[in-house]
Amino acid sequence: MSVTVRVPAKVNVQLAVGAARPDGFHDLANVFLAVGLYDEVTVTPADELRVTCEGPDADQVPLDRTNLAARAAIVLAERHGIDPAVHVHIAKDIPVAGGMAGGSADGAGALLACDALWGTRASREELLDICAELGSDVPFSLVGGAALGTGRGEKLRTLDVGGTFHWVFAMAGRGLSTPAVFREFDRLGEGTDIPEPVASQPLLDALAKGDPDALAAAVSNDLQPAALSLFPELAHTLAAGRAAGALTALVSGSGPTTAFLARDPESAVKVAETLRSSGTCRAVRTASGPAPGATALSA
Ligand code: C5P
Repeated sequence: MSVTVRVPAKVNVQLAVGAARPDGFHDLANVFLAVGLYDEVTVTPADELRVTCEGPDADQVPLDRTNLAARAAIVLAERHGIDPAVHVHIAKDIPVAGGMAGGSADGAGALLACDALWGTRASREELLDICAELGSDVPFSLVGGAALGTGRGEKLRTLDVGGTFHWVFAMAGRGLSTPAVFREFDRLGEGTDIPEPVASQPLLDALAKGDPDALAAAVSNDLQPAALSLFPELAHTLAAGRAAGALTALVSGSGPTTAFLARDPESAVKVAETLRSSGTCRAVRTASGPAPGATALSA
């Protein structure tokens, strides 16, 4: 018997970042939108915990106990007094170290899959609690749709979305480490007064209306200057997408994936084609959102 769970990637349409807290984390106003690029996590009983991965970026995925999917299995098993003897296989389509919550998706997917496989019947509350323990973005990977994350991003309020948004994503030639981008944010902000992060009302209204022009006018990412400082070539990708007719262009989360909002699916295809031939990125994908959160495909 095995269980497969499909989990979406995310783009942050707003990422407002406060000053570093005493624990090193940053308070956020983080507006997540799940998009239709998915990892699939399959769990099967085995003699001991083992992780394997397939997909174009599979060689960059750690297969030891630092993998969030392995950690999810261990935490759930510990809480329920079970041996986490399971083979976790990840079919990876979300870029690795790309700012699209690929690792978080695998954590949420493995958690839901192991819960079904082992019959642990954890409540939604317990699942969300374990997700928050695994990482700041993991609760959103479970929930999907659109949500405002506060605290370090793990406290979620579901948001209404009144339409489908069409995106193009450009994958970069290398990854960026999230802690390194936050450190660069701290360095760039040294000596300045960093305001409390708050969600933008025009942005929430644009999501609720499903209005791509209004959303394009309202998106923001406070980590973008830090990502560009560590990876200056991303400016060329952003410029190429804007010139191709994207309504807006931004770094996704801590990057280095760049995200381009298009007015409709046809325009998304055009922007994607132009970006592909621009020579400014490694790969280009289109995906729309909101997409559903972690979902079991088979049991
Ligand atoms: O929570 P997660 O393990 O995904 O965070 C990875 C790293 O990103 C943290 O170790 C921290 O350096 C940074 N981070 C942060 N503030 C947040 C979320 C993440 O500084 N709200």
